[in-house]
Amino acid sequence: MATESRISIHGQWSNRLAFILAATGSAVGLGNIWKFPYITGMNGGGAFVLVYLLCILCIGIPILMAESMLGRRGRQSPINTMAALAAEEGGAKVWAWLGWMGVLAGFLILSYYSVIAGWALAYVFRAASGLFTGLDAESINNIFGSFVSDPERTLAWHSIFMVMTMVVVARGVQHGLEKSVRYMMPALFIVLIVLVLYAATTGYFSYGLRFMFATDFSRLSWNAVLMAMGHAFFTLSLGMGAIMMYGSYLPAHTSIAKTSLIIAGADTVVALMAGLAIFPIVFANGLEPASGAGLIFKTLPIAFGQMDAGILIGTLFFILLVFAAWTSSMSLIEPAVAWLVENHGMSRISASVWLGVLSWLLGIASILSFNHWEQYKFWGKTFFDLLDYLTANVMLPLGGLLIAIFAGWVVGVKSSYDEMDNGKRGYALWLFLVRYVTPVAVILIFLNVSGLLDWL
Ligand code: PFF
Repeated sequence: MATESRISIHGQWSNRLAFILAATGSAVGLGNIWKFPYITGMNGGGAFVLVYLLCILCIGIPILMAESMLGRRGRQSPINTMAALAAEEGGAKVWAWLGWMGVLAGFLILSYYSVIAGWALAYVFRAASGLFTGLDAESINNIFGSFVSDPERTLAWHSIFMVMTMVVVARGVQHGLEKSVRYMMPALFIVLIVLVLYAATTGYFSYGLRFMFATDFSRLSWNAVLMAMGHAFFTLSLGMGAIMMYGSYLPAHTSIAKTSLIIAGADTVVALMAGLAIFPIVFANGLEPASGAGLIFKTLPIAFGQMDAGILIGTLFFILLVFAAWTSSMSLIEPAVAWLVENHGMSRISASVWLGVLSWLLGIASILSFNHWEQYKFWGKTFFDLLDYLTANVMLPLGGLLIAIFAGWVVGVKSSYDEMDNGKRGYALWLFLVRYVTPVAVILIFLNVSGLLDWL
C-alpha cells in the first residue's frame, strides 16, 4: 500500500495528469531542443543517438521510477527524504548527502541553463521583428555571433529569465508549477511537427535521417558514451532529486511505471523531433553539425527566414522553447527551496529569491565564457563547457548511481514493492534493472572514461 497517510507540507498534485505534465515539463526543456541536437552533432550522430536511447531505456527509466518512488515515500525535499528513508530502512545517515549533491547540481545547472534560456528569450523578439526574413546562413550566423559576444545584452536576458523562474517557484506547487505546463506541451509538439515538415521540404531530409540513425561505431569514443549517458540523466531531470521532489507531491495509488514510461516517451520523442527538424537544415545549408552550443540558433532561423508564415512560426517556436526551459528551470531549484522551507522556516518567496540571485551571479561567469573569458580554458574547456560537463556527465550520473543503489539495495523489497503499485512482473524487472543493470552500466562507463579499466 502506498503511503496514503503522508502528504507533503508543500502540497500535492491535483491528479495523476498534473504530475505527468509537471514531470514532463521538467524533463522536456533546453536539453531536448538545444542540447540534444548540438551534442549529437559534436559526437558524430547515429552511434551516439543509439547509445543515448539505450541509456534512456536501461538507466533512465529505472531511475525515473526509483526517484518517483522514493519521493512519494519520503514526501519531503530530497535531502530530508533521503535522511528519513535511510533511518526508516536502517541505512546509514550519510545517504542524506545524496540530497545535498543534488541540490548543488541543480543550483549549478540553473546558473547556465538560465543563460541559454535568455538566448531563447532574446530570439523571440528577433524572430517576431522579421529579422531573419530572407537571410542566408552566413548572416544568421553573424547575428548569433554578435549576440553572444555582447555580455551586457545576454546578461539582461539571463536576468529576465531568472526572475521568471523565481516568480513561478515562489508561487508554489499548484499555482505555479502545474498551471504553466498544461497548454505548453501540446503546443510545443505541434510547432515541432511543423518544423519537421519544413525540414522534409529542404531536399536534405534523408541526410538528416542518415546522420541521426546510421550507426558508425568507429566514431564513438568512451567520452561520447559518457556524454550520451550524462545526457540521458540531464534530459530526464534525473540524478539530482528534481523528480524525487515532484514525486513527493504525487497522490497515492498512481502507477509509477506507467507515468514514468509516458514521461520518458514524450521526452525522447521531442528530442528526436528536434534533431529531425535541425539536421536537414544543417546539411541543406552546408553548415557544420559540430558547431556547438549555438547550433539551433544558427539553423532554425534560416528556416524561419525562408518558410511561409516564418515570422509567426519562428516567434511561436522561441516562445515555446522559453516555456519549455521555464518549466524545467523551476524544477532545478524546487528541491533546494523546499529544503529551506522545511528546515529553516523560510517562506517560499525568500527561499526562491535567495537561490535565484546566487545562481544568477554564477551565471555571469558562463555569459563571460562566450566572450571576454573565451580564452580561459580549464582542461581544454571554457567555464560554461566545464560546468555543463561536470554537472551533466559527472554529478547527475553519480547521483543516479547512488539513487539506484539506495532504491534497489537499501530500501527493503516490501517497501519498494508497496510504493510502486505496479504488479509483480513489472516490479521484478525494475528491481533487476535498478539493482544490477543500472549500477553496473554507470560504473563501467565511468571506469572506461577515466581510463581506470585499461589500468586495471
Ligand atoms: N531536463 C531538463 C532539460 O532537458 O532541459 C534539464 C533539467 C531539469 C535537468 C531539471 C535536471 C533537472 F533536475
